Amino acid sequence: MLMHHLTVPPIPTAPPAIAQAPRLHVAIISDGNGRWATSRGLPRSAGHRAGAEAARRVIEAAPRFGIRTLTLFALSSANWKRPAAEIQAIMRLLHEYLLTETTQCITEGVRLSIIGRRDRLPDTLRQTIVDSEAATAKGARLHLRLAVDYSAREAIYHAACRFYKVTELSPESFSNVLAEVHRGGSTEVDLLIRTGGEQRLSDFLLWECAFAEFVFLQKRWPEFTAADLDAAVKEFSRRERTRGALPDAIAE
Ligand code: FPP
Repeated sequence: MLMHHLTVPPIPTAPPAIAQAPRLHVAIISDGNGRWATSRGLPRSAGHRAGAEAARRVIEAAPRFGIRTLTLFALSSANWKRPAAEIQAIMRLLHEYLLTETTQCITEGVRLSIIGRRDRLPDTLRQTIVDSEAATAKGARLHLRLAVDYSAREAIYHAACRFYKVTELSPESFSNVLAEVHRGGSTEVDLLIRTGGEQRLSDFLLWECAFAEFVFLQKRWPEFTAADLDAAVKEFSRRERTRGALPDAIAE
């Protein structure tokens, strides 16, 4: 008697989204909070609050677009030139953000790092940073790096000072020293987005953006949505990245 073995056809296993998707590092200069607020007759601090909301939307959406590292420019070292009240408002917002979002970060698998100087931050904020980083350290879905009191030039300068004391001379080892200075690691940026209409780097990730693609948007940061992030990543995927070599079509 013939045994009819039910041969179950192998279930086609859909490739895991993460394996297929690019593992991008996207960096964003979130500019235009102040103009967004003043054009509505609101104080600049309202613009920063709306900016924090935009950051929340983008952080939530980023992993869906293949982004594995997201670096947001929250406060530049050059921003100390602003009125003390505005800086304090940003510090308060950041502190509040860390206190309310850390649990969500843990749930969503987001590992949080703050890059930049810490010695000029209020003690309480510094402690909250340490706590949030420790609490989210196991997050593997997205590495979120918030740049606070950050200056790329200063980071490179400090890395060079440290490097001077070691003997091994290679760009890779220099890059590793720079990562230590950053604390939150340092990886090559694939795509840099700047909102708010300006087209400059403003001392952000100078070393890491060496071969980055740039997308500049007129839109102000508080108006930036997940759809804008998706569109920027799609625009990035249409670009041919040669890193100084010839484009494929010519090289063949
Ligand atoms: C840029 O707008 C924004 C800042 C200098 C700082 C505040 C950034 C945020 C609130 C976004 C991320 C925050 C968190 C908490 C994740 P601007 O003030 O330079 O705008 P303007 O060019 O129109 O004056």
